[in-house]
Amino acid sequence: MIAVRYFSRSGNVKAIAEAIAKATCTEAVSVTDAAAALAEPVDTLFVGGALYAYGIDDALKAYLQSLDASCVKKAVVFSSSWVSKHAIDLIKGELEARGIAVEAETFYVRSKPSAAQLEEASAFAKKFI
Ligand SMILES: Cc1cc2nc3c(=O)[nH]c(=O)nc-3n(C[C@H](O)[C@H](O)[C@H](O)COP(=O)(O)O)c2cc1C
Repeated sequence: MIAVRYFSRSGNVKAIAEAIAKATCTEAVSVTDAAAALAEPVDTLFVGGALYAYGIDDALKAYLQSLDASCVKKAVVFSSSWVSKHAIDLIKGELEARGIAVEAETFYVRSKPSAAQLEEASAFAKKFI
């Protein structure tokens, strides 16, 4: 079972999440949506968010803190920002603090993903099916 969860203010991370979800035949769900809660354990949780003033959004942080290692076998992190990949470290840190295994490989684009980058996101996701 695969799940895709994300937080996006202006659509960049959402676009990546949707490309990943399409590639893995699931739905991309915003962490602000009540449906983001995992109804059953997942093998792979794709989870993404952007960097805003050196931090991740509180809604994403709260979601990550609600996760449990018994419900997530492995997490795969994706992100977008102007320049810094720090959101990846922050997301990984929250997951690892909960004992959740995090895939070393991550997916990142600067700002708005191009069509080619969305294809890359799709190919990236398929590696984990
Ligand atoms: C208020 C605000 C603060 C931001 N701070 C940073 C930052 O510190 N470093 C960075 O590289 N990008 C920063 N960004 C850029 C966002 O991470 C980038 O636009 C990202 O693609 C937004 O993703 P989203 O469209 O999914 O919300 C900031 C953007 C906003 C709106």
